[in-house]
Amino acid sequence: MTETSAEPKPTWRARAAGGLRRKMIGRLLLEGLREQGWLYGVAVLAMFAVAASSAATAWVMEKIIDALNSSDRMRVTGVALLVMAIFTAKGIANYIQVVFMSRAGNHIVARQQVKLFQKLMRQGVSFFNLTESSDLLMRVTQSAQAARGLIDLIVTAAVRDTLTLLGLVAVMVYQQPLLSMVSLIIGPAAIFGLRIILRHVREIMQKEMASLAEIIKVMQETSNGIRIIKIFSLEGRMNGRMEAAVKQVEARSNAVSRLEAITSPLMETLSGFAIAGVVWLSAFGSFGGAVTTPGQLMSFVTALLMAYEPAKRLSRMRVTIESLSVGVRMMFELLDQPETMTEAPDAVALRPGPGLVEMKNLRFSYRDGAHVLDGIDLTFPAGKTTALVGPSGSGKSTLLNLAMRLYDPSAGSVEIDGQDIRGVTFESLRAKMSFVGQDTFLFSTSVMENIRVSRPEATDEEVYEAARAAHAHEFIEALPNGYATQVGENGAFLSGGQRQRLSIARAFLRRAEILLLDEATSALDATSEALIKDALATVTRGVTTIVIAHRLSTILEADRIYVMDRGRVVEGGTARELLDQGGAFKTLFDQQFGGSAGVAAGGLPG
Ligand SMILES: Nc1ncnc2c1ncn2[C@@H]1O[C@H](COP(=O)(O)OP(=O)(O)OP(=O)(O)O)[C@@H](O)[C@H]1O
Ligand SMILES: [Mg+2]
Repeated sequence: MTETSAEPKPTWRARAAGGLRRKMIGRLLLEGLREQGWLYGVAVLAMFAVAASSAATAWVMEKIIDALNSSDRMRVTGVALLVMAIFTAKGIANYIQVVFMSRAGNHIVARQQVKLFQKLMRQGVSFFNLTESSDLLMRVTQSAQAARGLIDLIVTAAVRDTLTLLGLVAVMVYQQPLLSMVSLIIGPAAIFGLRIILRHVREIMQKEMASLAEIIKVMQETSNGIRIIKIFSLEGRMNGRMEAAVKQVEARSNAVSRLEAITSPLMETLSGFAIAGVVWLSAFGSFGGAVTTPGQLMSFVTALLMAYEPAKRLSRMRVTIESLSVGVRMMFELLDQPETMTEAPDAVALRPGPGLVEMKNLRFSYRDGAHVLDGIDLTFPAGKTTALVGPSGSGKSTLLNLAMRLYDPSAGSVEIDGQDIRGVTFESLRAKMSFVGQDTFLFSTSVMENIRVSRPEATDEEVYEAARAAHAHEFIEALPNGYATQVGENGAFLSGGQRQRLSIARAFLRRAEILLLDEATSALDATSEALIKDALATVTRGVTTIVIAHRLSTILEADRIYVMDRGRVVEGGTARELLDQGGAFKTLFDQQFGGSAGVAAGGLPG
């Protein structure tokens, strides 16, 4: 359960250098603006208004002070109205900006999540074998948020903060040109201090993401494996893993906060110096011959103080970009993953046919190295039942995986009615097939819906019929809500045999021309198994059936039986022929039926 947790996942976590990051941000902005251009357009217009009204706020200070000094009522009233107008405009502009930015941002999150998920749906099974589900969960939920954050930050910084700063500096220069020079020299000094901080933030954020993924993984494994955890007393170990992951996140969050926190005092101290300088210089009255009124000085100091916030945000922008771009990179990595299993560009629909399945010199390995299938040449005649038997791990399930094109062979081909399945559309290929797997999977919904997934347009009556054939109807009727009963997460409210019967009903309902059964009745008692065997005889009439079974009693009547061993077919024939040969099948048979071998064999068809 924990063996693989420390192992780093496949290499698709290439580091993004500065240039790559710029490219990535460029792409993000381009995509975002292309899709949400007009929302951002409105937000940007509002930002112009915000910047202008901020500058006006500082500028109007001069008018206020001078008006108050003049004790001219008309003038005071005029200034008061002006102040009201400026602040109203600022409020409205702020509101519009926030609403439109949020809309655009929320839309980007939604779009990216859908895109990420659609990408996952296009991936082949091998991609999911190699990728931790917790890692995917992280990427789909977190990285889209980061994308939004990054766009927000850049648009806000580039437009609102920059414009506001420019506006305020303009007011400063207009009111006190010389003092402005002094303050503007001190400001940029702060930027240098930030450079040092930047280097660490990215690294820490990356590790924090990894720890977050570990937390999700521990939660998933706890939820899925709670019984094993209890039975083998693994609570302590799980607690330990969770604590370790949580502590790591805590430590890293602290490190990031510490680094980010340094930037504020740095800037604040420096702006304190600037203001002190202004006060001190202005105490010496006019210098350079310029005459300073109290109003001008007030307006200047206001602009200087107001400039602090946008300047701070702009100077910290790089730090924030660093941390957000980790998430954005995770997103693009997932979106750019080569698709492991794709339809041929010139794929055609599978031609209608009787359902003859041929495997020609098939070789396959899940990973580089040992062949799991090693030169399989098999024909599964249309409309007949062919059984596969053989020891555990000999490659039986793998053979079905290749027949369904969940994986592509490394050599050789699978053909259906003479058509290589790599050249046909997934839709037409899958429409041809139905499948009951070794491990059942049920969705967390009603019994009815679980059966109906194989043919959504099926009527209720057809669902009942399939359930009857799978000997599931009786137990379903006895459930508290019958067919409307919820089955729980992966069928948690049902017994193993009940789950399996639902899977069989689901496969029957599909009425496909090719039926693949991998240990489809292994969880059933002997009586149910015998009943389903009878039902199968009816359902599989005229259907190309490939059935895998360890219990030989279920396949003795197959039209043909193949024995597999270590990725090869070692024997083939009817049960009678194989028993007469006295090879591997005979050995298996004798092991299972022991003394009653003669009795069991007695009922065999010739
Ligand atoms: N997803 C996978 N990734 C890597 N190796 C796999 C994978 N699935 C199966 N294998 C390996 O391939 C070999 C064949 O597995 P397969 O599931 O085809 O055996 P099987 O004949 O169906 O066995 P059983 O009777 O136990 O179901 C095994 O050695 C197994 O370890
Ligand atoms: Mg198997």
